[in-house]
Amino acid sequence: MHKNGLQVAIDGPASAGKSTVSKLVANKFNYIYCDTGAMYRAITLKVLNNQIALDDIEKISELVLDTNITFEPSENGQKVFLDGKEVTERIRQSDVTNSASAVAAISSVRKQLTESQELLAANGGIVMDGRDIGSTVLPDAEVKIFLIASVTERAERRYKENLKKGINTPLDVLKQEIEARDYKDSHRQISPLVKAEDAIEIDTTSLGIEEVVNKISKEIEKQL
Ligand code: DC
Repeated sequence: MHKNGLQVAIDGPASAGKSTVSKLVANKFNYIYCDTGAMYRAITLKVLNNQIALDDIEKISELVLDTNITFEPSENGQKVFLDGKEVTERIRQSDVTNSASAVAAISSVRKQLTESQELLAANGGIVMDGRDIGSTVLPDAEVKIFLIASVTERAERRYKENLKKGINTPLDVLKQEIEARDYKDSHRQISPLVKAEDAIEIDTTSLGIEEVVNKISKEIEKQL
């Protein structure tokens, strides 16, 4: 075990419930929560703000070296800051969502963010969610979970979440977006979305949030 507790890696495809479940698990064990997807989203926003083309690898590589992404806990969840400016809501908008896979496929971006993530997790006591945490970022994590759910279920979850925010994207569009992101995240050359050999797979299609949290908590307790 590390100084502050275990390293808990939670990976899986888009909208499988990773962030909801990871936050609850982190709260339960008083661990830090790190949403690595938010880091890729923040870099993507910076690329868009600077009007850099998504295939301009050189400029994006320079940009990432000069970028500071931080998290701050708050009453209604974690706030995300890009170079000191709050971007929590902004990075969830569809322009960022749809460009993030391209930015996340760039090796210099992954290298930089992986280093920050390793540092954040060095003392343990952390729940980190993403696509490559158990396989690449924290290969020695004591607990590795791979969350999956059917495309239809994931699209329906996203649809309901969107409605609450006043966004009304049709269900079939959401399904197509999820399938496209799954494909890009699983087929990129570096650190593709893949289940680590020693990860425990949990299919959340017909499970409630609490059931998933309980299953993960049991795995954590086994290691404590
Ligand atoms: O989980 P999310 O939708 O917030 O992730 C945003 C994008 O970043 C998505 O295209 C996958 C990518 N990502 C990644 O490549 N590696 C991670 N560890 C986390 C996210």
